[in-house]
Amino acid sequence: MATTSSAPNTLLLKIKNPSIFKTSTSAFHAFPMTRATAKPLSISIKCSNSATVVAPPTQDRVFNFAAGPATLPENVLRKAESELYNWRGAGMSVMEMSHRGKEFMSIIQKAESDLRKLLGISDDYAVLFLQGGATTQFASIPLNICKPEDPVDYIVTGSWGDKAFKEATKYCKPKVIWSGKSDKYTGIPEFNDLDQNPEARYLHICANETIHGVEFKDYPTPKNKSGLLVADMSSNFCSKPVDVSKFGIIYAGAQKNVGPSGVTIVIVRKDLIGDAQEMTPVMLDYKIHADNNSLYNTPPCYGIYMCGLVFEDLLAQGGLVEVEKKNIKKAQILYDAIDESNGFYRSPVEKSVRSLMNVPFTLDKAELEAEFVKEAGKEKMIQLKGHRSVGGMRASIYNAMPLAGVDNLVAFMKDFQARHG
Ligand SMILES: Cc1ncc(COP(=O)(O)O)c(C=O)c1O
Repeated sequence: MATTSSAPNTLLLKIKNPSIFKTSTSAFHAFPMTRATAKPLSISIKCSNSATVVAPPTQDRVFNFAAGPATLPENVLRKAESELYNWRGAGMSVMEMSHRGKEFMSIIQKAESDLRKLLGISDDYAVLFLQGGATTQFASIPLNICKPEDPVDYIVTGSWGDKAFKEATKYCKPKVIWSGKSDKYTGIPEFNDLDQNPEARYLHICANETIHGVEFKDYPTPKNKSGLLVADMSSNFCSKPVDVSKFGIIYAGAQKNVGPSGVTIVIVRKDLIGDAQEMTPVMLDYKIHADNNSLYNTPPCYGIYMCGLVFEDLLAQGGLVEVEKKNIKKAQILYDAIDESNGFYRSPVEKSVRSLMNVPFTLDKAELEAEFVKEAGKEKMIQLKGHRSVGGMRASIYNAMPLAGVDNLVAFMKDFQARHG
């Protein structure tokens, strides 16, 4: 066992056989050993009155390119870890708190106010922390803001928009006014060419299609002057500034950019609340949730707490203008690598609407794709296989994917091409 001193009061131990801790103190039992057990493990032990075990070193984590649930900011995970057992002196974990107690109230209120700051959400909008995933919103939206006979328009730029449309057929009269299906969902329409119904109650878009990697860079305006723009922002939520005032409703599952799965965020203009169809289940009625500050029933407390930590982190980074700059840089590096590979790698998406978050790509030699994914996995870059419906590869590079992750991937891609090109 070698020892080095890395910081005041901190002793860094390099342990050749970490399995010894399996029979050691209970503090070490709580410590995740899985990935590190086969290798020498570095652990920092803080020398104070009571010894504290610090989280495992960064190099023990993988670069996780999953589309969601997805990678979370490492400092957020560490903060959550440090507060897991005893949240800020409350003597209990957030998981154990009453959702109506003062501690959790402070958590959800801070999460909401930080999200309002991040996106510049005015008091004209309610912010709801709900459950059921974005999928539940496919039904909640028409139920809350339409009558059964109301016409609504859907622009379908990928599988998620298509699912949202199909669900809406049960609760109103939706029409697909544009679909990218015949082009395998690789583009976004010209807004001027859209055949919008001037009576449509709302115009629905999926701001970023997670599977196909197609992202709206600007937003269409509903032809109906009193119509609403409604957007599924699940996979690019909080990845860039958005003018919320253009939208009637924005909704997003948290598990891509802002937290763990189990939390769905709905930002809804207040004047749209309170006119739901009679049959609307209580759990889908925005008024119930708005009147009860998202605490009508037991909310996903821990998930909301995690979202709050992510919002704090995004604000600390300088807000969404800064976050977007980083996202543009990461995406540029990856798309450049694809475009400069002389066709070895290909991006199917039209250049002007390529997603900053989800980057699907194929190999010219399709038979090498499985090998690519396998070799990348050995290099600790995981979840690069494309969605089962489209094949190929997909790198999801959400806010929390560090630049180093993209740099590593690009270096691997170049090396793979050199060996297989
Ligand atoms: C754009 C988009 N919308 C909706 C969904 C469905 O979300 P959930 O699984 O939270 O219901 C997803 C999930 O990946 C998504 O990417």
